[in-house]
Amino acid sequence: MYFGGDYNPEQWPEDVWLEDVRLMREAKVNLATVGVFSWARLEPSAGVCDFGWLDRVMDLLHDNDIQVNLATPTACPPPWFGLAHPDAMPVRADGTRLTHGSRDTYCVNAPAYRVASRRIATALAERYGAHPATAMWHVHNEYGTTCHCDHCATAFRAWLRDRHKSLDALNDAWTTAFWSQHYSAWEQIMPPRTTQYRSNPAHLLDYRRFCSDALLSHYREQRDILRVHGRQPVTTNYVMAGWTPLDHWKWSAEVDLVGIDHYTDEPGDGGLAQVAFAADLARSWARGKPWLLMEQGVAAMYVPDGTLPLEPGEHTRRSLEYVARGATGVLHFQWRASQGGAEQWHQGMVPHAGADSRVFREIADLGRTLSALPPAEPAEAEVAILWDDEAAWALRNPALPVAGLDFRASVEQVHRGLWQRGLATDFVHPSHDISRYRVVLMPSLYLISDEAVANLTAYVEGGGALIVSYFSGIADPDTRVRLGGYPGALRDLLGVRVEEFRPLTGPVALSDGTAGAFWSESVQLTGATATVTYADGGPAVTWHQVGAGAAWYVSTKLDASGLANVLAQAGL
Ligand code: GAL
Repeated sequence: MYFGGDYNPEQWPEDVWLEDVRLMREAKVNLATVGVFSWARLEPSAGVCDFGWLDRVMDLLHDNDIQVNLATPTACPPPWFGLAHPDAMPVRADGTRLTHGSRDTYCVNAPAYRVASRRIATALAERYGAHPATAMWHVHNEYGTTCHCDHCATAFRAWLRDRHKSLDALNDAWTTAFWSQHYSAWEQIMPPRTTQYRSNPAHLLDYRRFCSDALLSHYREQRDILRVHGRQPVTTNYVMAGWTPLDHWKWSAEVDLVGIDHYTDEPGDGGLAQVAFAADLARSWARGKPWLLMEQGVAAMYVPDGTLPLEPGEHTRRSLEYVARGATGVLHFQWRASQGGAEQWHQGMVPHAGADSRVFREIADLGRTLSALPPAEPAEAEVAILWDDEAAWALRNPALPVAGLDFRASVEQVHRGLWQRGLATDFVHPSHDISRYRVVLMPSLYLISDEAVANLTAYVEGGGALIVSYFSGIADPDTRVRLGGYPGALRDLLGVRVEEFRPLTGPVALSDGTAGAFWSESVQLTGATATVTYADGGPAVTWHQVGAGAAWYVSTKLDASGLANVLAQAGL
């Protein structure tokens, strides 16, 4: 069981390092993530490296039985890099080119950035690949930075050629007949830069897919360099936020273990539900590989524009919940709270007050507790929720029937309902083999492929229970609406047909005594039976027997009791 966090010794004089390792030992820290933001110290000018300080840190940690999760520092290029290669600084959709001064100032498609990334990764791999302290490689930090520059435009066009093969196919997939967007040469296609009014949703979706692949190729390049010089597992840390353009199923096949950074923003039970959600996702993405909590806040919640302290003991409880759901370690951002810099007000395992503090005492207690625990065997889940980043991105389309349709929010609501009932839950991709689950839930999975529909149909025919909620199965993989009545791809499986959506402005009463909210539909039964109705008698929840199984359709946003009723109908 790993315990520790980001360790940034370059922010401190060397005498503090001695206190660090003494306190790390006291807190049973056994893994320190080092070097995440150290590029400027490691390579003070182009091609000239200074490893002396890192040699001393690595040796010191090793002498104290603390292993190192050694980072490549490519998330934070030094000032000299941006000045030498202004074309490698990221460009926002509105054309603003960013300058050095914060972090994540790079374009992953800029050739100079790729050269510099390979050079520093190679230098680190050669020097520390055989160092006894190196236990793991942490490539980059929180991949997710996107750019809209000309390098991206070139790379995007190559990616599009590969995906669509011909301009005709692209024009068709993007419905460029709308608003005079027909492309007559590849060179006319740009990243989705700021434009007069709404952008084309298919263009936006392909750009996110492209960004995921472009970032992944940067990761792979470094991983392969690191593997030449060391045998340690290689990974990176995912941001558990809705904005990231990462296809986590695809990425997780490329990492040796899944690492997540997770910052809760609710107190009490809400925070515990968030922990369960993130941990279940990480374990599911890992698909049998280990997973690790690479960062969490230290005894704090991250609320918009600041942090709030957790109640005594809450941090420990949350940390243990990650472990119970399969985490092979609990790490934090960061070991020692910074004195200056942009994150000087983020709590550390050693706070500004020092080790004589409530926070350090709780951290040290937690370290001792974890050091005595064997890894947990998470309960085998009988329930799964469908997770697809592409479907989530498609629902970030700025022009939906109403605002507020949000894949992740719908998934979290359903996951919380299962969590409240004490049901172990996995996440699965719609094309995965799901036959072992008793019940599979599909909350607002807007976009779906024909292959995934066939997979889900076979699951139900074979005896599975599928619960589909509103605004699922609406679009094809190019975000085109599936015609003939909603929910296009799932009409046959669900035995329903919907001509019109009826979004709600307030709650509506349902026949089972619960309430629907946000969304409703005029549902026609084409084989299904209504199990819950709206006040006008129209079907709100339906049930359709298919082969040896059944599929439910939920046409509104149910409250907790409404969801519990449907789960009960499905045998949970
Ligand atoms: C993470 C990031 C850390 C630190 C932390 C606290 O997302 O990886 O470097 O910034 O948030 O804000």
